[in-house]
Amino acid sequence: QAAGDATAGQQKSAPCQACHSTDGNSPVGMYPNIAGQHAGYMTTQLKALRDGQRKDPVMSPMAANLSDQDIEDLAAFYASQTIKLGSVPEDVVAAGAQVYRAGNAKTGVPACMACHGPDGTGNDPAGWPALGGQHPEYITKQLGLYASGERSTDINNIMRDIAARMSKAEIDAVSQYVSGL
Ligand code: HEM
Ligand code: HEM
Repeated sequence: QAAGDATAGQQKSAPCQACHSTDGNSPVGMYPNIAGQHAGYMTTQLKALRDGQRKDPVMSPMAANLSDQDIEDLAAFYASQTIKLGSVPEDVVAAGAQVYRAGNAKTGVPACMACHGPDGTGNDPAGWPALGGQHPEYITKQLGLYASGERSTDINNIMRDIAARMSKAEIDAVSQYVSGL
């Protein structure tokens, strides 16, 4: 597997800037922050968006003409950037931390930090994405797509089973919580 070249990736990133900004910290809640995201995870997602296993009316066409090398270079570039954290209201932190750190034993929701890490940085070799600093709107949308089965790139549908067990209140709280992690 050819390693991505971050410098080449930066040169290829002009078409991405309108939505993901020059450094991967996007100004719009529905456009994910990709600064500091794992290169391996982004490579998997960009190939899935290109090849149709993951579909999005806005992002799929952007991935459609990328070569494997383009994808690895772009992933290496955005992975090298630094995520900016959001600020989260105090009252939301406690409710979000409860879900993120402990899950919900009654409904079978596992602790998110088991995979996404105590500090939200995920685990690159395992394919578990970083969530820290992500926009709450994007997180909420993805949990909905997993729950409905529309997003099904994940192996063994780990996230589908988790998201389907979460209440709306849990989703709202955890989505805001991770943006400040
Ligand atoms: C999602 C990269 C261009 C809008 C993503 C993801 C990556 C990515 C890696 C997945 C993020 C994740 O799973 O956490 C890129 C690259 C681009 C590009 C490398 C240039 C080649 C654009 C442009 C737009 C856009 C121009 C807006 C017109 C979006 C949206 C999503 C997304 C809306 C989320 C889709 C969903 O909700 O499932 N992008 N992007 N991207 N991107 Fe881009
Ligand atoms: C992806 C949230 C628990 C493994 C994601 C994404 C979100 C999320 C929002 C999409 C990230 C993006 O698009 O950038 C959560 C929450 C959890 C939780 C809120 C707790 C309630 C877990 C656990 C595991 C896990 C316990 C491992 C057993 C994964 C994997 C992906 C993922 C493998 C990537 C799936 C794919 O390729 O589409 N998670 N997660 N998550 N999560 Fe979780």
